[in-house]
Amino acid sequence: MREDRYLNISDVTKSYPNPFGDEIAVVKGFDLTVTKGEVISIIGHSGCGKSTVLNMVAGLIPVSLGGIILESCEVIDPGPDRAVVFQAPCLLPWLTSMENVLLGLRSAYPSLNKTEHEEIAKYCLYQVGLDGSLKKYPREMSGGMQQRVGIARAIALKPKVLLLDEPFGRLDSLTRLELQDVILNILDLQKITTLLVTHDVDEAIYMADRICMMTNGPRAKVGRMLEIKFPRPRDREEILEDPDFYDFRQELLQFLDDCEAEKEKKKESELQLV
Ligand SMILES: Nc1ncnc2c1ncn2[C@@H]1O[C@H](COP(=O)(O)OP(=O)(O)OP(=O)(O)O)[C@@H](O)[C@H]1O
Ligand SMILES: [Mg+2]
Repeated sequence: MREDRYLNISDVTKSYPNPFGDEIAVVKGFDLTVTKGEVISIIGHSGCGKSTVLNMVAGLIPVSLGGIILESCEVIDPGPDRAVVFQAPCLLPWLTSMENVLLGLRSAYPSLNKTEHEEIAKYCLYQVGLDGSLKKYPREMSGGMQQRVGIARAIALKPKVLLLDEPFGRLDSLTRLELQDVILNILDLQKITTLLVTHDVDEAIYMADRICMMTNGPRAKVGRMLEIKFPRPRDREEILEDPDFYDFRQELLQFLDDCEAEKEKKKESELQLV
């Protein structure tokens, strides 16, 4: 298996029937090859199909055409080798942070014993800065703390791929920056291959090795890829002082503007046809 083709999303299409029963391709011909340990940010306008792509990699929804190969195996259903963190932490309210992490761990690694499960859960909660809150219930924790538990639960599975769908979307900007660093520290240590969907251009640059810019749907695909060559571990202040950061930012914003302009043009020509 070539490490530069660790995760291969090849010519993937996802279609849904419209109310008239016609199949509409939300995503069409989506191609992305990811190297082992690489972090890819995915950006694009709302509704273009970012979550659809992530959910197909997670195996939560089937592809209509094309294929997704992870380390030589085709993705056909969900599995613990692909851990997902959504915008909402989705914790079980009657379980403590420790128990929430243990739940997935037990079902993913039934051969490990109780002590081993507990050691892994504790270590992951420590990595996200929650070693002092092992016995807290979700209602006793802030949104940011709950999301930390969600991240701990995901990394406890030791996934081959970490799938993050706007994981900081509901958090205030300070907590958001803190959690970006929590994830980056974990990725620096464990080198987990990661797909991060985000609307935040600065976050996309700060976190990623490459950014995948998606065109507007329907029939959304990869519009452009941008390589982010900042060294790791990353230092936010250094990056903010680097003129390249502002060039990357400009390129992303320009791409999003161009997509919007194209959408407007399409709308106008459709109106003229009516
Ligand atoms: N089950 C479904 N049936 C029909 N259409 C769907 C279904 N799920 C998603 N869609 C459509 O697919 C398109 C892409 O949705 P998706 O949630 O992937 O977008 P997104 O880029 O993640 O948007 P956002 O940034 O707002 O989260 C949307 O037009 C949505 O309405
Ligand atoms: Mg989405």
